Formats: sequence, C-alpha cells, structure tokens
Amino acid sequence: MALWLGIETSCDETSVALVRDGSKILSNLVSSQVDVHRRFGGVVPELACRKHLEAVNPLLAESLREAGAAWSDLDGVAVSFAPGLVGALLVGVAAAKAVAACLSIPLVGVNHLEGHIYANILENPRLAFPFLCLLVSGGHTNIVLVKGPGLYETLGRTRDDAAGEAFDKVARALKIGYPGGPVIDRLARENSAREISFPRAFLEPGSLDFSFSGLKTSVVHYLEKHPPTEEMLPAICAGFQRAVVDVLVGKTILAAERCGTATIALAGGVASNSLLRERLRKEAAAGGFELIIPSPVLCTDNAAMIGAAGYHLYAAGRRHSLSLDARPNGPLDELAALHQVKETS
Ligand code: KG4
Ligand code: ZN
Repeated sequence: MALWLGIETSCDETSVALVRDGSKILSNLVSSQVDVHRRFGGVVPELACRKHLEAVNPLLAESLREAGAAWSDLDGVAVSFAPGLVGALLVGVAAAKAVAACLSIPLVGVNHLEGHIYANILENPRLAFPFLCLLVSGGHTNIVLVKGPGLYETLGRTRDDAAGEAFDKVARALKIGYPGGPVIDRLARENSAREISFPRAFLEPGSLDFSFSGLKTSVVHYLEKHPPTEEMLPAICAGFQRAVVDVLVGKTILAAERCGTATIALAGGVASNSLLRERLRKEAAAGGFELIIPSPVLCTDNAAMIGAAGYHLYAAGRRHSLSLDARPNGPLDELAALHQVKETS
C-alpha cells in the first residue's frame, strides 16, 4: 500500500490530494480562483501565482486532516511541473520539493496533460495499453495514443484555439460568463428552438488536427449581424457546441479506427461537456470501441489525477531529483526522456 500526495497549481486552481495505490482518493481539495479572474474575463497570471501561494499550505494541512493521515504516512509526492503558467507551476513544484526533501520520499514530476489522461487510469486501474485519448482542456486539444506509462504519441492537435478556449471566447462574446464551457453546456441543454448552424472545420481530408478559431469568428460575425436577445442564446450555444462536438467526435473515431485500439478515453475540462460525452458514447459503441470517461470532478483540474499519475509513473520507473523545475511548455511526447534522473542525484 502506498500513499501519494498530488499537487496541482498549473493554472487557476490550487489543488492538493491524497491517493492510495493510484486508485483510491482519500482527499481531493480544489481551491478555485475563478471568482478572482472572472471580472477580467480570463486568468491573470500575476494574481494566479499569489493566490496559489496563499492557498497551498492550508490545503496541504486540510488534505491530510480530511484523509486522516499524518505527514509520516506519505510514500511519495507528485506535482504538475508543465505546461502552464510558469509562476503558478513554481508554487506547486517548490511545495512538492519541500515535502520530498523534509520527508525523504520520492518526487515525481507529472505533465499536467498526462495528469488529465491518468484520471482515466485512476478510475480504471486495469486499463490496458495502448489506448487512445481525446484530451480537451482550456489550453489543449490533442488526440493522443497512450502507448504505455509515460509514453505518448500525439496524433492530432489544434492549430489555433483549444476547444475549451473556443468555449470561453464564445461565452465572452455572448457576455454569459467565465469560464464559458459550463454555461454554454447548460444553455444548450435548455434549448428548444432550431439550433443556429455554424461551420465545422475538418481541415484536409483525413487530418487529425483541429482548428476552432474560424468557428469562433463565425459566431462573432453572426452576433454582429444578429445582436442576440436573451431568448436566442440557447439556440446559438447549442449550434456552436454541436459544431465543436461534431469535429471532436469525428476525428477521435477516425483516429481510433486508424490505430486499431480497443479503448477510447476522454480527458480534460471539456470532457465534462454533456453533448460530447453523449455523442462519443454513441459513436464509440457504434464503432465497437470501449469508452472510458472520468467522473466530471476528475475532468477539470484536480490533484487526485496528479497523485495517481505519480504513483503509477513511479512504479514504471520515473523519478525526479530536487532540481526538478517548472516548465511553461512541456511536450507530452518527449516526456520519457525529459528530466529523468537517477534516484541518487
Ligand atoms: O482541464 P481544465 O480544467 O483546465 C485546463 O487545463 O485548461 O479545462 C478548463 C476548460 C475551460 O475552457 C472550460 O470552459 C472548459 O474546460 N469546460 C467545459 C465544460 N466544463 C469546463 N467546456 C465545455 N463544456 C463543459 N461542461
Ligand atoms: Zn487542465
């Protein structure tokens, strides 16, 4: 039995979790800064760093209290070290290094994106490799072939905006709040009128890449011509959401067919979108694929996925020294070679 601490501070959520054996969550506390950033319509990096700094120590203490654990019970500590806001990542990395140094326990750096992928393994510890993962967050939209622990091949990625970013930008244009994804999702569900149709960007035939900035622009142009009334919002949201989901689902199924994997997994904040979950469930079943979707709390940023990833990646041989540093850009595909150090260093 091993108890791992997970720390996540890559963007605007400070989160600390305790996970047993990479699969049992004993605590998973998330302190969201959404209220701080809302009035700016997006994350303000300087404010995010300060808020992480204020939140991280109290969350560490509270997380242990909630789990009924003591510092001396910890067997390892995992932390998001990339990608994200560098100052924000630094807070988590410094906290994790302090814990690892004081307790003389292993430290494992986890790429935030692989953390999202590991939310699936947390809930399905016997998930077999390889599997395909559609990773859709506020900053990334990737189709990833997960070949083994820490071994990734990105088959498709966005060429401009990420899916979550498109949700957030469209919500800002509609003046319906931040972050946009959950609001658009809710309004789309309430729609009973004919949906407004927006273009789908499938790019070159067979491409697994994405582009969402054209869709966002076409919503903005539509709004210029048809200033929206309150009653029209659900039909606009439903049309926009369907355009995003059609492309995400179409390309994911295409990728799965190409790779011949048995399982498709979903990850990242946009994975909590109700239409995406429903459509992917339907299409995966039609294609004969097993579909795995994390619980909504494990889709958005949280430290349980980081703690679980740390446990599993440590078991697979990953170790980091106290020279682990925050990296604002962290390529998923090069992780196996990145920062890998001997336990003695
Ligand atoms: O993974 P995440 O929590 O943070 C990043 O790593 O970026 O993802 C946040 C993104 C935001 O863009 C938010 O609008 C989007 O996930 N999101 C959703 C939903 N819930 C969160 N997008 C669509 N539908 C949702 N229900
Ligand atoms: Zn995330």
